[in-house]
Amino acid sequence: MKTLRVLTGITTSGTPHLGNYVGAIRPTVRASRLAEVESYYFLADYHALIKVGDPARVQRSTLEIAATWLACGLDPEKVTFYRQSDIPEIPELTWLLTCVTGKGVLNRAHAYKASVDKNTAAGVDPDAGVTAGLFMYPVLMAADILMFNAHQVPVGRDQIQHIEMARDMAASFNHLYGEHFTLPDAAIEDHVATLPGLDGRKMSKSYDNTIPLFVPREQLKKLIMGIVTDSRAPGEPKDTEGSALFQLYQAFASTEETAALAQAYANGIAWGDAKQVLFERLDREIAPLRAVYDELIQNPAQIEKTLQAGAEKARAVATPFTARLRHAVGLRRLD
Ligand code: TYM
Repeated sequence: MKTLRVLTGITTSGTPHLGNYVGAIRPTVRASRLAEVESYYFLADYHALIKVGDPARVQRSTLEIAATWLACGLDPEKVTFYRQSDIPEIPELTWLLTCVTGKGVLNRAHAYKASVDKNTAAGVDPDAGVTAGLFMYPVLMAADILMFNAHQVPVGRDQIQHIEMARDMAASFNHLYGEHFTLPDAAIEDHVATLPGLDGRKMSKSYDNTIPLFVPREQLKKLIMGIVTDSRAPGEPKDTEGSALFQLYQAFASTEETAALAQAYANGIAWGDAKQVLFERLDREIAPLRAVYDELIQNPAQIEKTLQAGAEKARAVATPFTARLRHAVGLRRLD
């Protein structure tokens, strides 16, 4: 029997990278294989509009992320795999949640606050360039999660605050209108903190420091060779602490492999050799998936068909649930 609902999404604002894979895709695909898990995966294309004003980029990213999920082993027969904007009930639920969410809560959301802080530091209007879409981001995300009453949401650490906000919105709604929503929990892989990018900061499309998941092998190698390290020479012991290279390795390697690299660091492995070790470990996991991806990406029509079938499954849940919520809040027929 399916007793645990797991849900996660990726914003269609760029090319999927290793951080997305490690933080969201890999744990979710693994979870979907467990008999007790009912999975919902989706392409967060409404969220993409908050950051991207380029229609061609949103569309290309939608194709790439869909092909990535499928290449990484998602079975659309067994899970519900859909595009957010194919579910009109999601913006409707966003509004219902907006009306139970304190503005002060949204003021504290990381992404909004970061923009305000940056503007304040620059001495300009705190809200300069900030859209209402950015401000409302956490509510749209809560609607994604609460629509399907997910118990667990596998995400990277950067998303924890959003899941906590979704819990609070669910609790406020339940308090006012009765028990309609499950309170979701973030599911974070223990050994994966936030995956660093090429420059050591969080790997993020916004920092332009990503390693795309499915670049050709040679390009992957070139990118890895460009990871920032300190200037310690071969033979000098290296610190694993704060080493982006080490953290990337750890996210892919077994405990024994990780311990072996830590030992090599202590023994003064040359950075070039450590990068080669990382490249080989990554490519071992990614190469078979890349081959599937390269085929899938050639066939957008097939992917579209899969998404349409997924939307139908998702709406079979979302439509009656939204009707129930409308009724609960008093949006009812008069007769
Ligand atoms: P997005 O598209 O920025 O990232 C997708 C997933 O990848 C994870 N991630 C990382 N994990 C580890 N290290 C990193 N460097 C890294 N970079 C990204 C993110 O934590 C995320 O899990 N708001 C979400 C998309 C979304 C969503 C949802 C997620 C919309 N609605 C409902 C879960 C449930 C976002 O922008 O993720």
